[in-house]
Amino acid sequence: MPSVSTYLRLASLVAVAVAGPASKTDTAKRATCTVDSVATASDLSDCTDVVITGFTVADGETVTISAAEGATVTMTGDITFASTTSSGPLLTFDTTSIAFNGGDNTIDGNGPDYWDGLGTDGGVPKPHPFVKFKGSGTFEDVTILNSPAQAISVGTDGTAVVSGITVNNAAGNTNSLGANTDGFDVEGDDITISGSTVNNQDDCVAINGGEGIVIEDLICIGSHGISIGSIATGKSVSNVTITGNTVTGGLYGLRIKVDATATDASVSDVTYSSNTVSEISEFGVLITQSYPENDGTPGTGGPISGIAFTGGTTTVSVDSDANTVVIDCGACSGTWDFSDLDVTGGKGSVIDPNDAVISGGSF
Ligand SMILES: *[C@@H]1O[C@H](CO)[C@@H](O)[C@H](O)[C@H]1NC(C)=O
Repeated sequence: MPSVSTYLRLASLVAVAVAGPASKTDTAKRATCTVDSVATASDLSDCTDVVITGFTVADGETVTISAAEGATVTMTGDITFASTTSSGPLLTFDTTSIAFNGGDNTIDGNGPDYWDGLGTDGGVPKPHPFVKFKGSGTFEDVTILNSPAQAISVGTDGTAVVSGITVNNAAGNTNSLGANTDGFDVEGDDITISGSTVNNQDDCVAINGGEGIVIEDLICIGSHGISIGSIATGKSVSNVTITGNTVTGGLYGLRIKVDATATDASVSDVTYSSNTVSEISEFGVLITQSYPENDGTPGTGGPISGIAFTGGTTTVSVDSDANTVVIDCGACSGTWDFSDLDVTGGKGSVIDPNDAVISGGSF
């Protein structure tokens, strides 16, 4: 008569024989997932490896890539959005600790179908933002082409490093039809954006809230420059480093803009180093608390402190009828070390620093 332990061994062998292969296949299916349509993007929560082979997104559809924590997501083809009645974001990456690599493929927003020169202020409804980065992790090597309005919103909730991105809205320059085509709108903590290129018709980067933000080695072409703000009521930005960027052409170079009406808001500890800004037609450096005016009556509900141009020369060269450096403060404080700011050209500076003391600099 077989012992009890033999029965148990037999039972477990049978269990393995029956359950083994099936569960192995399921696991394999879940681990690597191929996205080649809107439908195949819909449930990626068990996928640790996602390959997007490229597809077209029809009118009325949006796509969210929500893969397993730590997933690798790669593109091997382009994603093209048809003209759509959907509101933005049209494509969202929302994965914790993602490693996204676009393989230099393109995400095409079909902007020319919407562009009418009015941006998000009127005319044809334009889905915005076009692409949203949520979750956390690394986002690399993709081209965002022809966004209807704002291109990329970075609203991550953990450490994020964004690099090797191209925002190409150059076609929006034709007949001045592209508008509000911000490159990166940033709100969150511990975010680095580096080594990327933006060609557009509004802010290259706009930082709307958060702390521990680094903007480095960007190339901004024809934009409204690199901006903190506009800062609205309840929003604060602190500990920002803007370094090694090249801003060429466009209305503004480097800006801090706080809404005149903002309350419970602030901007503190912003350091600019080793940036090259050239061919600016309106304002080289503008720090204002009177937004949306450039140099109007400033508010006092969004104080600014700790602004520095240090750690490597930032050169700003502006057109002959541009404003060189304008500071329009209602509530600014501290000593601002501008010793590494070197501005040339322009019709002069207007410095109204309230209680801040500006030291050094050539402007
Ligand atoms: C400022 O931000 C940087 C980059 O995220 C971070 O390394 C540093 O610790 C922060 N400094 C402070 C004082 O929070």
